[in-house]
Order: sequence, then structure tokens, then C-alpha cells
Amino acid sequence: MNILLLGSGGREHALAWKISQSPLCTQLYIAPGNPGTAQCGTNIDLPIAGNFTEMETFCRSHQIHLIVVGPEEPLVKGVYDYFKAAHIANSFGEEWLGVIGPSAYAAQLEGSKAFAKEFMLRHGIPTASYKEFTVETFEEGKHYVLNHALPIVLKADGLAAGKGVIICHNHIEAITEYEMMLQHSKFGEAGKKVVVEEFLTGIELSVFAVTDGKDFVLLPEAKDYKRIGEGDTGLNTGGMGAVSPVPFADAAFMNKVLEKVIKPTIEGLEKERIEYKGFVFFGLIKVGDEPFVIEYNCRMGDPETEVVMPRLRSDLVALLAAAAKGELQQVQTEQDARFAVTVVAVSGGYPGNYAKGYPIEGLDQSTGNTMVFHAGTAIENNSVVTNGGRVLAVTSFGKTVSEAADYSRHTLEGIRFTKMYFRKDIGYEFE
Ligand code: AMP
Ligand code: GLY
Repeated sequence: MNILLLGSGGREHALAWKISQSPLCTQLYIAPGNPGTAQCGTNIDLPIAGNFTEMETFCRSHQIHLIVVGPEEPLVKGVYDYFKAAHIANSFGEEWLGVIGPSAYAAQLEGSKAFAKEFMLRHGIPTASYKEFTVETFEEGKHYVLNHALPIVLKADGLAAGKGVIICHNHIEAITEYEMMLQHSKFGEAGKKVVVEEFLTGIELSVFAVTDGKDFVLLPEAKDYKRIGEGDTGLNTGGMGAVSPVPFADAAFMNKVLEKVIKPTIEGLEKERIEYKGFVFFGLIKVGDEPFVIEYNCRMGDPETEVVMPRLRSDLVALLAAAAKGELQQVQTEQDARFAVTVVAVSGGYPGNYAKGYPIEGLDQSTGNTMVFHAGTAIENNSVVTNGGRVLAVTSFGKTVSEAADYSRHTLEGIRFTKMYFRKDIGYEFE
């Protein structure tokens, strides 16, 4: 099977690493990829979000059978629907399996907070109480915000590069932010609708499934560390590390997640005839002993994938092919019982401004136990240099969380680039 993987981060290196281990994979291409994915397949320069005609031409000339999508943007922009239509209109051949991902309609579970909230309400899925407002209902919303208990969570409806959620601790701040979104287009189109939500207190975790729209297979769960500073302080980032399994997600809690969140979500998709063949990311919060959905994403998490893929023992390509064919009912997966911890090395200054182009030394430290995944890297003059905020994710296995964390930390201590920074506390709070 020839596979095209879209994306270029640490998540995509972990996916490419896993896909390339499958005996079912003949050729793997990654668009655009990074120097890490180049170790697992062939990187190619293709536009991946917006116009899909070049991608279609590539798929035809390279006999691609399956497209796996890393980031949300191509999905929200309709890559699934484009290839479905192209397949029907001008046949891709018998072996064509399609795109792993939701339709653009289903991708609104991530692309529109209001769409996701309405879906959860229709299917009785536990989530924070909320109301949505637009310019037309501005005054009503102002009244709602002023009378809402503190803290208040304001969310821009659309994709806002992870910055569209604001947690306000007083009403003056909340009203100011509310006005900025609706009257001053703080988040542009994404903020034309605002979701005003109850604040939930608890601990967050990420749960992942692969679905074919009727059945699903659970992947290992993970906990992400979003803040830049040790002890979960400072600014939010794309994610500074992850652990899996999650020590506080015991069997009783995970059973509640299954019964109250995952099953009703997949049944909801089926009942509403929403086309979805791909990864579902449940961003959850554990409040007391109960799970609530904070958000859905229609893709894998980053850096969660860097611990989820190493812990998945089953063949990912077989799993994705079964999802594409609607045959997930017959699939069982196996997970590695060990703990995996990933720690992300970032460029100094991130998540604010940072420089690029610093040479990276000490990259050849992958062992059977430790994997160095590339995120924001590039090749310049035949050497690997920094090319983004999040540069590398180093994943290790251990019998305990702290043993896995020790290995990743030790490996990172042997890697050097100018202004390199990583959190040294990830995984250690559990022991
Ligand atoms: P989102 O973009 O929806 O993932 O939100 C970003 C972050 O804001 C989440 O990871 C949570 O930490 C926080 N958050 C979002 N909604 C709530 C809520 N209702 N209660 C508490 N925290 C929230
Ligand atoms: N690590 C969180 C995300 O991928 O959205």
C-alpha cells in the first residue's frame, strides 16, 4: 500500500515512524514532512490545505492508496470530501481507500465550538453549560456575561490557532473580551460567534479513538502539559510534553469515559449520518470522578501522538485501512503496558518570538527505549537546524512514569542547540 501523510510536526514524525513499521506499507510519502519524517519515507513539497488538485495529481502519478491527515486544517478545508468526489468522478482504481479523517461537515466538531456544543447537547454528552452569542444577540449576551458566575470562559467559535479561549476572573475583563470579539473582531471570522461557558475545575486528559463512523477502537490515552513553565506556570503553548498511560485515569474512570462520552459520540455520528473515518480526540476534564468534554479535535494531539504511537503495539496501517473500509468492528488492538513520557525541546522565547536556524547537535540518540521525534527542524548546509518553536520531542519508555521521564531528560541533556529549553518536571508529579 502506498500512503501519503500530510503535515510536518512531531505528531507527523511519530505517525510516519509507526506507519513505516507496517509490513502493509510499500511507499510512504510525507507532505511537506521534516528531516525526521525523511528517515521514515520520502518528503514531498505539496500544498496541503486549500487547493487539493496538485495533491490529486500526485496521488494518481504515485498510485497512492491511503491519505493520512495530521493537522486539522486540510480536514476543515474538505480534503476528505474532495477526494471522495474525485474518486467518484474519475475513479482512483480498486485499491484506493480514501482519506483518513472526517468530512468537512464533521470536522466542525473541531472547527466550530458552537457546532460541537450543540452536538453534545443533542446526545447528552457531559460538557460545561453554555450559551452562544453573535452581533445580533450582543445585548442579551452582555447581560448573560454580567450575571455569570466567575470565572467565565469565552470561546471564539472558529479556529483561532489555539488562542481563541479566554478565561476571565472578573466581569470587567469578561465584558471587555466579549466586546473585543464581537464588536472589534479580535479573532476575525473565528470570533463572530462567541460561546460563553461555565468554568470547570479538574484535571485534563486526552483520549483518542479511531472510528469508521459506526464502530471505534480506543488508542492509549495521554496527558498533555500545556504551560511553558515548570509546575504548570506561564503562557500556554502547543504542548511541552505528554505522558501515557495517565495515572489518574483508572479503569472505573475510563469506563465512564467510554459509556458517557465515547459511545454517545460515535452513536451520535451514526444517527446523524455524519461521515467520519478517522481519529477523534476527546479533550476531557475530570471533575471529581466525572468526565466532561472540553473540546473535540478531529485529529491526533501533538505531543500526545509521540506517546500514543509508541504505546500502540498493533499495526497502525491495518487499523486505518479497516477504518477506511468501514470494518473496524473486526479490529482489536494491543497496547504496550509500559509508561511513555515525551518531553519537548523548544526554541528560547517560545511561545513568543524566537530565532530559527541554530544547528542541533546530539540527535543520534534514538535507542530501543528512546525515540527522538523531530518537530520544528530543517536541513541547512547538510546539517539539522531549528526551524520552529517546538523543535524536538523525546519519548522514552519506563516501568514507571518517572523512569520514563528520567530517560527522556537524560537524552535531552545530550542534545544541544542555542537557547534550547525544556521542562524538567514532566512526569514527576505522579510519584
Ligand atoms: P480549548 O481550545 O477548547 O481546548 O481550550 C483551551 C484550554 O482552556 C483547555 O485546554 C482548558 O485548559 C481551558 N478550558 C476550556 N474550556 C474550559 C472550561 N469550560 N473550564 C475550564 N477550563 C477550560
Ligand atoms: N496537545 C493538544 C493538541 O494537540 O491540541
